[in-house]
Amino acid sequence: MTTLNDYFQSYLTATSSDSSSEKSAVIDVINTITTVGKEITELLRKGALADIHGEAGAENVQGEQQKKLDVIANDLLLDALTANKHCAGVASEELDDATPANESGELLVLFDPLDGSSNIDINMPTGTIFSILPHNNKGQAVTNADFLQKGTEQLAAGYLLYGSSAMLAFTFSDALDSNNDGVILFSLNPTTGEFELVKKNISIDADTKEYAINASNARHWLPPMQQYINELLAGTTGPRGKNFNTRWVAAMVGDVHRILCRGGIFIYPKDTKDPSKAGKLRLMYEANPMSLLIERAGGASTDAINRIMDYEPTDIHQRVPVVLGAKNEVEQVQKLHQQA
Ligand code: F6P
Ligand code: MN
Repeated sequence: MTTLNDYFQSYLTATSSDSSSEKSAVIDVINTITTVGKEITELLRKGALADIHGEAGAENVQGEQQKKLDVIANDLLLDALTANKHCAGVASEELDDATPANESGELLVLFDPLDGSSNIDINMPTGTIFSILPHNNKGQAVTNADFLQKGTEQLAAGYLLYGSSAMLAFTFSDALDSNNDGVILFSLNPTTGEFELVKKNISIDADTKEYAINASNARHWLPPMQQYINELLAGTTGPRGKNFNTRWVAAMVGDVHRILCRGGIFIYPKDTKDPSKAGKLRLMYEANPMSLLIERAGGASTDAINRIMDYEPTDIHQRVPVVLGAKNEVEQVQKLHQQA
């Protein structure tokens, strides 16, 4: 049995001295996030009993203020990360602007504190997604602009999944992956409170028969996306010649986890419902970290045409269409969009 601490020890031993300080800083930040993840796991386990359900701002039966768990998760991560000496600043789905932390810190952390939060009240999976970037203006207080780096600049990314068990998946960038372990999966042992290694070098099959999309938006999709899904729905009677199956967790973290475990394609496409929005999901703390995981596992991640990690970000909360997972299916979506 290898605990997360054991894993990080062996990782640092395998590290050459020239990059060791950056690597130990990244590890320290991941440790901070996983420590908070354990607290969130505990709160979720208490569920309705912990007064965390409902809307923030609502009152409970005793007349006390209820705090929604996504607000609590955000506050816990914010407090813990701003206290980490390596963290120069954080950006969160729940905060309009970046929050400066330690000016001497060399890392920036972006997070979605509780992804899939509509699942909280119904006891379904949620998660925390994180992305770690270098702070390129070390010594200066962070601004939103410091975070606007391409996904390819990420030093590490991952998520905690709060499902029937709590799991941690993360990956270092290629340059930092001294053990060549790719995407690594840990599971929280509820008896010891330690994350234990489950699998390294997770790999996604290029082909799949499983897809995830919220089909209630079908009439708003662009024609090539409608065509793609119609071809999947036609099964053996259509041009694809095989039957496909739908799965939709309604938490991106759950759908991406399924794809890392058994393959598939996940789509949250651009649609015409609200022309001011490029998509639903957020580039910086949802799409980019998931793209790093998916690509490092051999999958592909695009906006239907272009690679997500090549986006030059313009806003920390910018939205992006997402088509990720099994390489051949992502390519098929790309082909239909390029032909259109
Ligand atoms: O964070 C946004 C999110 O909750 C994702 O986790 C999830 O994939 C998606 O939105 C669900 O969207 P919808 O409510 O449209 O199914
Ligand atoms: Mn989210």
